[in-house]
Amino acid sequence: MTITERQETPIPGTGTSTTNPAAAEAVFGHATSRLLAPLQVRAGDTVVDVGPGAGSATLALAEAVGERGRVHIVDVDPAMLEATMNAVGKAGLTDRVRPILHDLESGPPPIHDAVDAVWSSACVHHTRDWGAAVRALTSLLRPGGSLCIAEGGLPSRSIPWDCGVGTPGLETRLDAAHNRWSTQWFAGRAGVRRHTGDWGEILGAAGLEGVTRLSTLIDYPAPLDERVRGVVLDELAARVRRAGPFLDDRDAAAWKTLLDPADAQWLGHRPDLALLTVRTAFYGRRPH
Ligand SMILES: C[S@@+](CC[C@H](N)C(=O)[O-])C[C@H]1O[C@@H](n2cnc3c(N)ncnc32)[C@H](O)[C@@H]1O
Repeated sequence: MTITERQETPIPGTGTSTTNPAAAEAVFGHATSRLLAPLQVRAGDTVVDVGPGAGSATLALAEAVGERGRVHIVDVDPAMLEATMNAVGKAGLTDRVRPILHDLESGPPPIHDAVDAVWSSACVHHTRDWGAAVRALTSLLRPGGSLCIAEGGLPSRSIPWDCGVGTPGLETRLDAAHNRWSTQWFAGRAGVRRHTGDWGEILGAAGLEGVTRLSTLIDYPAPLDERVRGVVLDELAARVRRAGPFLDDRDAAAWKTLLDPADAQWLGHRPDLALLTVRTAFYGRRPH
């Protein structure tokens, strides 16, 4: 693997939520394909995937650009680049994909080709200055090239309002506690710039035109198959771990019970565990 810029220590808190990003990305794969479609990537294009995670979008982009095209993948975490390159290798697409170890917070990644499209999902919100990150990505585009930032959407719903353990409304209180954790994590870093507008405004302020958005529903009704159930349990455990300091004792105890595979009340036994959520993406074009 060629890595054009080396940073030895990934920034804590920037990785994927789950212990198995490839499984999570597979579950969200249809949503990713729907959000990628408006970029209209064609054979021969040069595209960039920023913060690829385990690489599900990278694979779709590598298929779309064909043999003559290129996909540059940019990540601050070498493990994420490696995971993506492994997935790309298994699909036989290595020749089309170039890994670049780079921290988006230090400016545009070193890509010298004219870029037709940039895709970045659930990555820019990790940076201290979202406007600067979007401007850096915009600067990669050729005139008329397109940027897509997949951020926002809605929190997931997976358990009934009253699941019979603890007090009803556990999941909405988990959202609130998780929000408090993420606000503290975000603001607790030196040099953070607070943004009060939405992502569409940030794209507009970066000089992009024709800014639009698309939201897509992810609806896996109960009963879940083993693959989706595993991802839901993994995501819930990650959220509970992070939100832990902001949960009250009763809710913390209820989640401990629900997430313990040795407990009779383990969520993994429930026939009504589901996954309902929304993902959103924002698009804009660099003016000619
Ligand atoms: C939550 S994961 C998103 C993975 C995938 N794109 C998805 O939508 O599921 C965030 C990704 O962004 C990367 N990342 C976070 N901060 C970054 C930064 N400052 N520069 C480059 N990559 C970063 C992480 O290493 C990780 O691969």
